Formats: sequence, structure tokens, C-alpha cells
Amino acid sequence: MKLGAIILAAGKSTRMKTTVPKVLHRLAGKPMIEYVLEAVAPLSDLPPTVVIGYQGDEVKKALGERAQFANQEPQLGTAHAVLQAKPLLEGKADLVLITYADMPLMTAQTLRNLCEVQQSNPGPLSLLTLHSENARGFGRIWRDSNGRVQAIIEEAVASPEQLAIRELNVGIYCVQADWLWNALPRVALSPKGEYFLTDIAELAVRDGFEIKTLPLTDPTEAIGINQRVHLAEAETILRQRINTRWMLEGVTLVDPQSTYIESEVIIGQDTVIYPNTYLQGKTVIGENCTIGPNTILRDSQIGSGCRIFFSVVEKAILEEEVDVGPYAHLRKGAHLAKGVHMGNFGEVKNSYLGPGTKMGHFSYIGDATIGAGVNIGAGTITCNYDGEKKNPTEIGERVFIGSDTMLVAPVKVGKGARTGAGAVVTKDIPPHSLAVGVPARVIRKLKEEDG
Ligand code: UD1
Ligand code: MG
Repeated sequence: MKLGAIILAAGKSTRMKTTVPKVLHRLAGKPMIEYVLEAVAPLSDLPPTVVIGYQGDEVKKALGERAQFANQEPQLGTAHAVLQAKPLLEGKADLVLITYADMPLMTAQTLRNLCEVQQSNPGPLSLLTLHSENARGFGRIWRDSNGRVQAIIEEAVASPEQLAIRELNVGIYCVQADWLWNALPRVALSPKGEYFLTDIAELAVRDGFEIKTLPLTDPTEAIGINQRVHLAEAETILRQRINTRWMLEGVTLVDPQSTYIESEVIIGQDTVIYPNTYLQGKTVIGENCTIGPNTILRDSQIGSGCRIFFSVVEKAILEEEVDVGPYAHLRKGAHLAKGVHMGNFGEVKNSYLGPGTKMGHFSYIGDATIGAGVNIGAGTITCNYDGEKKNPTEIGERVFIGSDTMLVAPVKVGKGARTGAGAVVTKDIPPHSLAVGVPARVIRKLKEEDG
């Protein structure tokens, strides 16, 4: 059986009060619709069909090649939306799974279970239901005295008796394709001026079929995002899911409630994460690291055995056993080799610090290449910007940069050299020499082993 997935995303979402398409609002670092794409991906060999309408071009741009798109213009209701996918799926899919772009917590497992229910259903329609005291405005599942589903009743048109029903329509269906394409044009216009997809239940019954239902066991999967309170609820649940997964993988979260791990992050075993830590983007963390408290890591690679304390790390690479913080800021292109120590109030941007190099206090290193075993004294600054362009600094291995040295780039300090405290280095310093003063002058050669 070939399955095609339809994801409805054409609605206007007035209640979000937003200029950004609702389905592109982010949850744990990713647009909500991406969770739906990921949930349907393992079920189907065909690309998912996303029905777009309001601000559709932006949705299309965000998803690119990962989906095919059907335009719904104007938006005349959920049945009308599904009908727009017919030209893309007719003859290609035997079964159609219909889900919503604004229900991002629905899992692949639940969708798979629903499709399995439909595969053993002689009738054309299976749907997901939820037993809940909180009706959330969902349609009600209307059954006859034998318990057979007769119809889905929308809240707006339900009688008091129907409103009391606590079996709800989640809005996710698995349908036989041929029957669906035949049924959709038979859906009548509702008094609200929309074609309701829910009417296909009644049509299946009228065609003499029995409808199968799958009750949802985890009600959080049915959270639909209609406004920003729902967005925050979904974020909380997603965070719990992500955190639980990493704890089960062997990562210690000292306080999961205040640990914010985005969905693409990868963390090695026996790493310990302290509270108020944000792991974002495509960050990868090795084993046996200690991260936080109060730390932000974004799009960075952290080797095993690192310790990052009270710091901000963005688009940086830390090799193994690097020790950073408190109050360190690593920016784009910072690359700290094995065993680097970077203490408080330092900033490194677009620079390589060789193995074992130490910068303990109050330094800015930008556009620099620094060898192994270098000591960068307190207050050292690479003056990399001359008002027009950024200039490079090169420091050889085993250099000792004295406290408060200004390195006026472009400039090179040869291996084993030293600068005196307060030196302003405007010219290259040869290897194994001591330069002091403003501007710095070489005052003596050093023995090679002094460096
Ligand atoms: C729908 C169901 C309701 C179910 C609820 C669960 C119908 C008529 N009702 O109601 O039984 O309990 O979902 O969430 O289906 N959309 C389009 N084009 C349209 C209209 C909607 O693409 O013309 C999309 C929306 O973007 C949204 C989804 O379909 O993703 C659901 O639409 P919405 O208007 O929110 O339906 P509900 O009133 O929530
Ligand atoms: Mg809705």
C-alpha cells in the first residue's frame, strides 16, 4: 500500500496575532511544521503534500525541496484544502494520511498506528480520537447505541447533548484514496461558508461503511497551536521530551526544568549540564563535559572532557579538555585546541589558539593564529581593526605575551618571544627576543630554552 501524507497549513491563524506564518513559529529551535514533516517522513516514500494558502510563499521557501505544495486560494475549509492535494496524489497513493501543520507534537508512532488501523479496515476511513474532559473546541464523535461512529459534530453546531460528549475528533485521518477523492466533492457547504472535512465521516456511514477509531493515549500529542499560550505549552512538553531522551542516553541534567536543549543538539554520555543552560542550533557536545550553570552554546562543537562555566559560545570549536569561563565569550570562528584554558572576561573571535595555550584574564583575541603553549597575559588585546579592515595577528609557539600588551595588527610575534607589560607591538617581533615599551622595541635576544 502506497501512502501519501497531506499536511494542512493554509489557514490564516488570526489568533496568533503575527506577521510570520503561524507554522513557521519556532519550537525548541525549529519551525513547528518541521516536526510534522519529520513525523510523516518514515511512513511514506512520497514527498509530503503541504497545502498552503495564507502567506504560502514563505512556507514554501522555508521548506524548499522537502515537500510538494498545493495552493488553496481562497481558503474554504478543511475539506476544500484536502481536495487541492488531489492532482498531486491521485493515482500515486492508495492511502492518504491527513494531518495539520499546527499539531507539531503528534508522533510518528501514533500516525503509524493509525495507518495500521486503516490497513486492516474494510471501510475507507480511520480516525484518531481523544477522550478528554477539556473539549478544546474540538469536534465531537457521535456514536449510535451500538457504539458505531455516525458523524463528527463541530462544536459550533452541536446540541447541548452532543456538547457533553467527551470523545473528541483530533482531526487526523487515514483514508482510502479512491474513496476520498470521490467523497470530497460530495461535502456540502456548511452554514459557516466552509467545506468541513469532518463531513466525510457521515459520508462513509451513508456509503455503508464502518469507521474505525484509534484513541490517543497521550493527550499532549493533540495540542494544536492556535495562539501563543499554546505555543508555550507545546514548548514545555517538547522540552520535557528532549530532556528525558538525553537523560535516558546517559546525560545528567541537574535541573531539567531550567535546561533548554534544542531538537538538533547532540550530547555525549556522562556529560553534566547545570541549570539555566541553553544548548542551541547544531551544537554537538562530547562525553564527560561539564556545562553551565548559566551558559549558552549555539552551533558549536565541544570535544570530550571540556568544562564551560557561566559563558556564551557561538559558532565555535573547542577540542578536548578545554576549560572556559566564567564570563567568557567565544564568537564565530573561535577554535580552541586541546587543553586551552580561557578564564574570565575574555573574548575570542575568528582565531585559533594552539594546544595548551592559556589566556586567563580580560583579553580580546580577534583574527589571530596562536601556536601551542602560549601564555596570553591579563588585558592583552589584538587591535585587529584599523577603522577600515580587519587585520591578522600571528603568534608563534611558546610565546609569552606580557600583561596589557597591545598587538597592533597586522603583526607577527615569532616563536619563543616575549613582550613586556604594557608593550604596544606595532612591528613584527623576531623569534626568541624580548620586546618592551611603546612602541615596542626588541631589547635583547633570549636563549632558545627561555621562550
Ligand atoms: C478542525 C476539525 C475539528 C477538530 C479540530 C482539531 C474541521 C471542520 N474541524 O477544527 O473537528 O476537532 O480541527 O484541531 O475540520 N486549514 C486549511 N484550509 C482551510 C481551513 C483550515 O489549510 O481552508 C488548515 C488550518 O491551517 C489548520 C487545520 O486546517 O492547520 C485545521 O483548521 P482549523 O480551522 O483550525 O480547524 P478547527 O476549527 O480547529
Ligand atoms: Mg485548529
